[in-house]
Amino acid sequence: MTAPIAHFNGKLLPIDQISISPLDRGFIFGDGVYEVIPVYNGVPLRAREHFERLQRSMDEIQLANPHTVDEWMKLTGELLRHHPGDQAVYIQVTRGAPQKRDHVIPKGLTPTVFMMSNPMATPSREAVENGVACVTSRDFRWEKCHVKSTSLLGNVLARQISVAAGATETILFRDGFLTEASSSNVFIVKNGVVLAPPRDNLILMGITYDLVQSLAREGSVRLEVRQVTEAEVRSADEIWLSSSTKEVLGVTTLDGKPVGGGKPGPVFRRMHALYQEYKAKLAKRPVAA
Ligand SMILES: Cc1ncc(COP(=O)(O)O)c(C=O)c1O
Repeated sequence: MTAPIAHFNGKLLPIDQISISPLDRGFIFGDGVYEVIPVYNGVPLRAREHFERLQRSMDEIQLANPHTVDEWMKLTGELLRHHPGDQAVYIQVTRGAPQKRDHVIPKGLTPTVFMMSNPMATPSREAVENGVACVTSRDFRWEKCHVKSTSLLGNVLARQISVAAGATETILFRDGFLTEASSSNVFIVKNGVVLAPPRDNLILMGITYDLVQSLAREGSVRLEVRQVTEAEVRSADEIWLSSSTKEVLGVTTLDGKPVGGGKPGPVFRRMHALYQEYKAKLAKRPVAA
């Protein structure tokens, strides 16, 4: 069987024919940024928004973008020709490979561009209907969590806390306030109102987090963006995770204790339905629109 096709610096190649210099700053320093775009039956969801966020991440790390949004969209379409169906497209841009290791950002380096696509499994019906378990931790990551950086050790270690507990995610608190989870945004519901932590440097501005907010507005679901305390999370009626691959997912136990009635709540079910309707409409649009 031939290896799946991936994109590397302008070429489409079987992934096992791609090799990267050990001096690449992505390898040495985690000096790079990335995106993950969900694709439903060949149609990317909010690809433009993902590439706009990639641009913001690159601006934050002072890395010149080798492509315009339109070029990125074209490259994604070309890669997807080799990957039909529901996919998660991964895009990574690192600062490139200099002659020697040095913290100082070198001038004139060519960035390394890598894209791959893998089949995407959205949450099972069981997970949607019964919700998932989460645990909590102090948010011990850095203060630039709005950059979608490949330096993910903090997120990896946070995720591992939930792995050890047999849970799906680790929900993080910084100085007594909710930030997000290791690879998802977090919403809570109290007395019928959805609460979302502010979009600042302490969370990644999820494309799904943003979509959930527009769906709430359009679907007349009450939603406030404001700081959420740890106590509010622990006494919430509902807790949700959101991400490109998890979509919206109910959390039904937190640190082993039931959330609300211990089942995904009515506001979650409404948002999940709005999300599925949005996806269904998307599938009727032409590929890579
Ligand atoms: C730390 C973190 N927060 C939030 C998200 C959700 O972002 P998106 O909805 O764009 O997938 C992710 C996605 O991987 C993430 O890694």
